[in-house]
Amino acid sequence: MKSESGPRALRSIAIIMDGNGRWARGRGLRRVEGHRAAETSIRESVKWCGEKGVEWLTLFAFSTENWSRPRSEVSFIMRLLSGFIQRNIDELDEERVKLLAMGRLAALPEGPGDDLRRAIGRTAGNDGLRLVLALNYGGRAEIADAAGKLASEAAQGRLDPAAIDEEAVSAALYLPGMPDPDLVIRTSGEQRFSNFMLWQAAYSELYFPEVLWPDFRREHLDQALEVYRSRQRRFGGLAPAGTR
Ligand code: IPE
Ligand code: IPE
Ligand code: MG
Repeated sequence: MKSESGPRALRSIAIIMDGNGRWARGRGLRRVEGHRAAETSIRESVKWCGEKGVEWLTLFAFSTENWSRPRSEVSFIMRLLSGFIQRNIDELDEERVKLLAMGRLAALPEGPGDDLRRAIGRTAGNDGLRLVLALNYGGRAEIADAAGKLASEAAQGRLDPAAIDEEAVSAALYLPGMPDPDLVIRTSGEQRFSNFMLWQAAYSELYFPEVLWPDFRREHLDQALEVYRSRQRRFGGLAPAGTR
């Protein structure tokens, strides 16, 4: 399907993939089994976005705060990242998916970091869905890093501080040129950002389905799309004449 345009278009979706631990515990399994089961939900979401002509899908996979989890869980997630890339990269590449990542990526362990960089390089020329993995990502860290970048350009005389506007800040974020998410979905019923895309989500529509991430399937995305289409986005203005 071709991409839509106009105010109702759903170009960019971001998902806070939450509830893996609860999913596993509810089945009497170790928490990490929930992370393992998440791969099916990710694959299904990527396929659905491709079919619907969504241009950008951003997945919150590991936050700057998630390092505070037990070391064994953190290293399991990092190994899963490598495994996910190795198991899926051929198919993603065939489907013309362009893989990207955002976060403090230099702090990722070497193995998964290398796998990620290689996969990003391999799919760099693809023109399909942009799949962004938010890894060691925090919205506050991103804004702080952008401020640092702008400050150092100003200190070197390459940027006039008076020229720092919202556009300049956006352009200094991890992925300049990435559109703000039209819709942010957080699974598992939790209703908070947990430090996700604080700058970009200023005018995103928010949707909080109860489903735990490992159970998330295309029907949940169909529902999300329906909810999104029922919303009226005003961006601080007024509803179109005739609907007020
Ligand atoms: C989300 O699931 C995955 C990550 C944060 C890496 P959780 O692991 O947070 O699952 P719950 O919230 O404990 O159920
Ligand atoms: C947010 O979920 C981070 C990711 C989904 C990667 P958390 O489970 O870490 O968030 P809190 O701790 O419940 O706020
Ligand atoms: Mg959680």
